[in-house]
Amino acid sequence: MDRIRIVGGNQLHGVIPISGAKNAALPLMIASLLTDDTLTLENVPHLADVEQLIRILGNHGADISVNGRRERQGESYARTIHFTSRNIVSTTAPYELVSKMRASFWVIGPLLAREGKARVSLPGGCAIGTRPVDLFIEGLAALGANIEIDGGYIDATAPEGGLTGGRYVFPKVSVGATHVLMMAATLANGTTVIGNAAREPEVADLAKCLNAMGAKITGAGTGTITIEGVRSLSGARHRVLPDRIETGTYAMAVAMTGGDVILEDTDSSLLETALEAIRRTGAEISETNSGIRVVRNRAGIRPVDIVTDPFPGFPTDLQAQFMGLMTKSSGVSHITETIFENRFMHVQELARLGAKISLSGQTAKIEGVSRLKGAPVMATDLRASVSLVIAGLAAEGETMVSRVYHLDRGFERLEEKLTRCGAHVERVSD
Ligand code: UD1
Repeated sequence: MDRIRIVGGNQLHGVIPISGAKNAALPLMIASLLTDDTLTLENVPHLADVEQLIRILGNHGADISVNGRRERQGESYARTIHFTSRNIVSTTAPYELVSKMRASFWVIGPLLAREGKARVSLPGGCAIGTRPVDLFIEGLAALGANIEIDGGYIDATAPEGGLTGGRYVFPKVSVGATHVLMMAATLANGTTVIGNAAREPEVADLAKCLNAMGAKITGAGTGTITIEGVRSLSGARHRVLPDRIETGTYAMAVAMTGGDVILEDTDSSLLETALEAIRRTGAEISETNSGIRVVRNRAGIRPVDIVTDPFPGFPTDLQAQFMGLMTKSSGVSHITETIFENRFMHVQELARLGAKISLSGQTAKIEGVSRLKGAPVMATDLRASVSLVIAGLAAEGETMVSRVYHLDRGFERLEEKLTRCGAHVERVSD
C-alpha cells in the first residue's frame, strides 16, 4: 500500500494549479442520470472518488467516456467526461458500492424522479460520525415519495404520475440532502420550495448545470431554493467549479512553511471565511488574474480561534488542516467543530509529531510548539490525512504518512503539486 514520505523544512515557492471540486463533480455526475441525453463535464478532477462513482453510474446504465486524460505535462490535470444514460438499466444501488463512497447514496434523487423508484443501500456510518439520512427521507417524502426501509435498503417509490412539488424546510443544513431534493424536484409536477437549504457553492454549481439542462431553479446559493418542475431535461456542457477545499489546504500549507505561492484557476470568493482566518495567522493573501497569491515571509504563525459552520462559515473540511497549521502557532488557539461529532481523529496523529492538543467535547485547545518532529503517522480520513501532510512539511526530519488511499480520494497529484513548489514529498510504494 502506498505511503507518502515527507522531509520537512522547505518553504514553498511557485504555482499550484487548483483542480475542479470533488464535492461539485460528484453531484454533477449523479445529475447525468436525470436525462437520456449526454451531459459533458469539464474540469473533472482525477480522483479515486470520481473513479468509484463512474463505476456506480455504469451500474445504472450510464455510458461514460473520458477525454483529455492529461492535458499538458505540469499545467493541467483536468479531464472532460461525457455521461449518457440513454436507459436506466437498474434502479438499485447495492451495498457493496454505496458503502465504499457515501455520496453515491445521492443517486436516490435522480432515479426516483426519472424512473419513479429507487432501491438504495443505506450508507452506514463512517469514520467522522454516524451521518444519518433522515433529512433525505423527510425531504423526498415531502415530494410525495413513499419510503420504506427493508434489509438495509431504502425503497423509495413515487406515486402514479410521478413526484409532486412540495415545501420542505430542513431542520438542519445538509449539503447532500439539498443536492438530492433539488435534483428530484427538477422533474416533479409543480413547484418545490426548499427552506434552510445548504448555501455551499457546490449547490449553486449543481443548480447552474441543471438549469443548463433545462431545469427551472432559482435561489440556489441562498437559504431558499425554488424549483419549478419540468417534463424532461436535456444534455448540457458544464465546467466544474474550482475546489475551495484544495485551495484552502494549499494556502494553509504555505502559511505553515512560509514562502510565496500562486494558487491558479481558483477564486477567493469561494472561501472568504477561511482565507480571512489564514490572513489572521500572519500570511498575506491577494488576488491575481488567475487565482490567489499566498505569501508568508518572516512573520511567525499567530494563534487564531475558529468554529466550523455551514457555508459561508469556516468549512468543516478545512478544520483538520487549520489545526495542523495551529500546532506551530506562537500561542494558544481553539477549534470548535459543529458539523460532525467525531471529526478529531487527526489529534492523536498530530500529537505523534509533537503537537500539544487537548480535547474538551467539540473543542480542541492547541498550544503552539516551536518544533514538530517527523514520525510515522496514519491517515484516518480524507481531510485528516492532509492535515498530517501540512504538519509534516514543517516538521524536522521524516514524516511517513500511511493509508494514503484516503488522500487519493480527494487530492489530485498532491505530491507532484507540492514537489514542484520545492517541498520534499514523495510517494513510496511497498
Ligand atoms: C458534504 C461534503 C463533505 C462536507 C459536508 C459538510 C460532499 C461529497 N461531501 O457531505 O465533504 O464535510 O458536506 O460540509 O459534498 N445529517 C443528518 N441527517 C441527514 C443528513 C445529514 O443529521 O439526513 C447531518 C450530518 O450527520 C452532519 C450534518 O448533517 O452532522 C451535515 O452533513 P451534510 O451537509 O449532509 O454532509 P454531506 O452532504 O454528507
